[in-house]
Amino acid sequence: MSQSSAPISQAPVNLLHKATLIDQPWSPRVVAQMNQYQFKVVRIEGEFIWHEHPETDEAFLVLEGILRIDLPEGCVLLGPGELYVVPRGVRHRTAAEGQAKLMMIEPQGILNTGHEGGERTAPNDVWI
Ligand code: NI
Repeated sequence: MSQSSAPISQAPVNLLHKATLIDQPWSPRVVAQMNQYQFKVVRIEGEFIWHEHPETDEAFLVLEGILRIDLPEGCVLLGPGELYVVPRGVRHRTAAEGQAKLMMIEPQGILNTGHEGGERTAPNDVWI
């Protein structure tokens, strides 16, 4: 009936384990894709840069540590198991005291620096 192409993996994705495999902070790695949306894990340390994504919302799920998301009106603090969605077009800056491990959910092709560019822009579509 249906045409299957790629073999179906029987391995679950362990998000925390995937995050420990990343060698550099601020280097998002894709761990799964659902339709056009990608699930990315990242390790962060210190502060990122202010940016926005005019084309999409961006979801953050904390796996380990404390994530601070700075927003124009204040900040949101998230611990492990907590989720926050930054609405499309809203300026934000992620930060962690020490280190944090996160999962982000966003459409394929979205850059971590939005439209700011610069040296902190990570390459897209790198799987781990
Ligand atoms: Ni962002």
